[in-house]
Amino acid sequence: MTTLERAEAAEHALSQELDRLVIVKSVIYTSGERDPRVPVTRPPDNGRRYLMADDPRLPRMPERPTLFDFFRLRFAPANHLLQSARLAQKSGAGDKVVLACLLHDIAIAGFIRGDHGYWAAQLVEPYVDEEVSWAIRYHQALRFFPDESVGYQYPAMYTKLFGPDYKPEPYIERAHEYARTHKWYMTSRLLTVNDLYAFDPTVQVELEEFTDVVGRNFKQPKEGLGFDASPSSHMWRTMMWPTRYL
Ligand SMILES: [Fe+2]
Ligand SMILES: [Fe+2]
Repeated sequence: MTTLERAEAAEHALSQELDRLVIVKSVIYTSGERDPRVPVTRPPDNGRRYLMADDPRLPRMPERPTLFDFFRLRFAPANHLLQSARLAQKSGAGDKVVLACLLHDIAIAGFIRGDHGYWAAQLVEPYVDEEVSWAIRYHQALRFFPDESVGYQYPAMYTKLFGPDYKPEPYIERAHEYARTHKWYMTSRLLTVNDLYAFDPTVQVELEEFTDVVGRNFKQPKEGLGFDASPSSHMWRTMMWPTRYL
């Protein structure tokens, strides 16, 4: 078979498999697009089975997934994260800031966008130093507030994205107030400093640049992320299998 024939055969097998399956989207996929008070009527199943295994449309995760497996198969291309981490490393930041930069937006890359700093912190909390997850959690709030001592200004991009009148909500203001006098403030602040200038489509950064930092500072569970019964294991499983029926 030629490469083209192989690709066509694979596509055919996938569409046949999909024909035999019912894949139901969780509310979070459609929330906001429909009135949640109106019941959803489902089309007849016609003898098809509900998906309870790997989603055939997604790249299959290994049995014992590592953080890098998630980067390659669920968060890719993750340029923003890699560029932020490299920027931090180049500026001479320590491991904690570099790791925080590498992980800070994984919720956006693979899970949920709203309140992403809190979700990302929760995802990594069992596996990193408390200071790292703290920095990730509070970047959610700190990025809205300037700090001249380190040359951090309110991002011009936010004015463009959210309009000149946008004001962070009171819970974000309170989080900023709390964080600014905390002993780990600068770790989170340096995350936002390296976050800001990290969007460059021409810069390619390889994950392997961070093998050592991750090896030293991320407690990779031997059972694999998702299977170690940590307080966030289920969240890693959801990223692995986002469309399972139950
Ligand atoms: Fe972020
Ligand atoms: Fe970011």
